[in-house]
Amino acid sequence: MLPAFEWKKNKLVMIDQRKLPLKEIFIEYDSYDGVARAIETMVVRGAPAIGVTAAFGVALGVLRLKTAAGIDNAFERIYARLERTRPTARNLFWALERMRRTFDANKTRKLADIKRAVVAEAKAIEEEDVMTNEAIGRNGRDLIPEGATVLTHCNAGELATAGFGTAVGVIRAAHEQGKRIRVFADETRPFLQGARLTCWELDRRGIPVVLITDNMAGWFMNKGEIQVAVVGADRIARNGDTANKIGTYSVAVLAKEHGIPFYVAAPMSTVDASLATGEEIPIEERNGREVREAGGRCLTLPHIAVRNPAFDVTPAKYITGIITEKGVFRPPYRFTP
Ligand code: MRU
Repeated sequence: MLPAFEWKKNKLVMIDQRKLPLKEIFIEYDSYDGVARAIETMVVRGAPAIGVTAAFGVALGVLRLKTAAGIDNAFERIYARLERTRPTARNLFWALERMRRTFDANKTRKLADIKRAVVAEAKAIEEEDVMTNEAIGRNGRDLIPEGATVLTHCNAGELATAGFGTAVGVIRAAHEQGKRIRVFADETRPFLQGARLTCWELDRRGIPVVLITDNMAGWFMNKGEIQVAVVGADRIARNGDTANKIGTYSVAVLAKEHGIPFYVAAPMSTVDASLATGEEIPIEERNGREVREAGGRCLTLPHIAVRNPAFDVTPAKYITGIITEKGVFRPPYRFTP
């Protein structure tokens, strides 16, 4: 299986997720600004993957410094550039804050030592993400019943993380237990992460997958064809309100109406302890072209006004449980570190 990105000879190589599944194209990055642009333009996406690649972006920025003179200012420039790429993913800020702590702890050492320390920290964040996701899979797999059809939205799989995935990781762990399950993947307009990425991943893993358009989920729930829903998260407030890909809220409301359990799977690094409720979560609004066009072709009149919020917030009352590496949290949510 291809990882979404790989640190190779002091460069970051990413698979271009905009081209999947039709083309497997790899792009090599050797500057922090290049990594920042890759995150903004969705070469790489998914909250944990954004966090890990931003950490490598910091490492690249520091690696390319020629002198330790003015290193504080240089670090702030690198940090500020990566920080303004995607506002909703909590993991981005979490990973950047970790990189800052490492930089601060090492900045009075020789430049070569600072470089070694930041690269080592980015690699540690990457390795921990894989282990965290495997733990999420183990903690969540028993929530997927034998024979179930599982609905998922967007892509919270291997491509969205350093490996294994969160929501798709739970599905994969249930599949690896030998359960006969299948997945209904919402196509996930407008960027089509479900159709392009989740289907590609599941197909390669031999997990049966059926692609549906976003507006079909309610009907299949009504017909009794979906037993459980599991999705990822970009940011979780203290009360359990969860920001995830636009359309997640509709799935959660529909699931509640039909008595179907609705789970969120995410690492603890997605929990933003500074936010009391989801009302405070910043929601990214992306370029309207993503809505007006599909596959580079205009679907409407080019001047038609559109809205394109990339995420919505699902209130905690619709969430059956939040699956993390620390276990499954249930309402009322109290996230202990
Ligand atoms: O805009 P994206 O593709 O970055 O949005 C991705 C999602 O909403 C995922 O569900 C979330 O980041 C969790 S990925 C493990």
